[in-house]
Amino acid sequence: MGKSELLIVILTLFGQSLCQVTDQTRQPEARGPQVVEAVVSYISESCIFPSDKLYLRRLAYVESQDGMNASTYRPGYYGGIWQVDRDKFMLTQTSSALNTYRDEIRQKLYIDWSRVSWSDLTKPLYSGLAAALYTYLVAGQNGVPRGVEYQSTFWKNTTRPNLDANIFYKLANQLTRGCSRNDNLDLVFVLDSSASLSSADFDSTKYFVGSVLDQFNVGKVRVSVVVYSTSVSAAFYLNTYNTKAEVQKAVDGIQRNAGSTRTDLALNFAVDNVFTIAHGSRPGAAKVLILLTDGKSENRVATMAAAARAKTRGINVFTIGVTSAIDLEGVG
Ligand SMILES: *[C@@H]1O[C@H](CO)[C@@H](O)[C@H](O)[C@H]1NC(C)=O
Ligand SMILES: *[C@@H]1O[C@H](CO)[C@@H](O)[C@H](O)[C@H]1NC(C)=O
Repeated sequence: MGKSELLIVILTLFGQSLCQVTDQTRQPEARGPQVVEAVVSYISESCIFPSDKLYLRRLAYVESQDGMNASTYRPGYYGGIWQVDRDKFMLTQTSSALNTYRDEIRQKLYIDWSRVSWSDLTKPLYSGLAAALYTYLVAGQNGVPRGVEYQSTFWKNTTRPNLDANIFYKLANQLTRGCSRNDNLDLVFVLDSSASLSSADFDSTKYFVGSVLDQFNVGKVRVSVVVYSTSVSAAFYLNTYNTKAEVQKAVDGIQRNAGSTRTDLALNFAVDNVFTIAHGSRPGAAKVLILLTDGKSENRVATMAAAARAKTRGINVFTIGVTSAIDLEGVG
């Protein structure tokens, strides 16, 4: 099997396995849509609370982009994925209006809420429960309103009086629900175009990208290409093109620019500028970065750090070694 076929198999499995991730709901500082959906369905299946009309799911995305926002877990702040502030958390412990809910949490989930501390909310399940308790406390008799529009006002009224309700509205509407499917993939190729690669190597890199894309429904799978040597730039972003033909044409037109191999800069660029909502990355999609390089990075330590950083943002990094043999292998 050639490298491109192998990669296609990996990517295909990737999309399919996303619904069966290991349980991270009690793991401190876990993040991502899968964890959020696991917490939300766990809370909903416990039947402790009345229906929240998707509010809790939306709230996780509005407050921290499912924990993917870089400032979700920050020094001195423990509100977790649902960003439950300390004063609100204290209310969930002391308010007598929540007695019944706290009893049920003890009986059904074996969590004694009076012994939970604010810092426990770095565990997604605890953050979600705190958000649910607070929500039912402030919703009172009326319950949680139905529909994104009313929930936006409810959120402003009860949780973020200094922010515009429209923030909730816009973010909640970006959310696509359900498990990620195979084609729910944001795929970013990062191409080494440094002087250590010959121009034939660079051509085979482009050929490789094309042969991987051939196997996917481009449009549903969003694709971006980043090219780097001494500096980094995006040839196109995840939301630049919608069809395979456009993407292929753009890939064919990419010029090699020689220079040194700053893989660290390229990875950081992809994390900060490409896997962003503004540039077409979707909250529910699997995020995969494929690095095509000869491996001779200028700065190995910085490169490892950048790869680790990508991983903490929920981006899966694959490295493919570039040699002029890629195209032979790819065909064979
Ligand atoms: C991340 O969170 C910070 C602080 O809560 C906020 O200012 C920023 O807009 C958020 N980033 C995104 C991409 O929403
Ligand atoms: C929000 O607050 C305003 C003003 O107090 C009130 O009129 C409105 O009904 C509230 N909306 C929701 C959904 O809580």
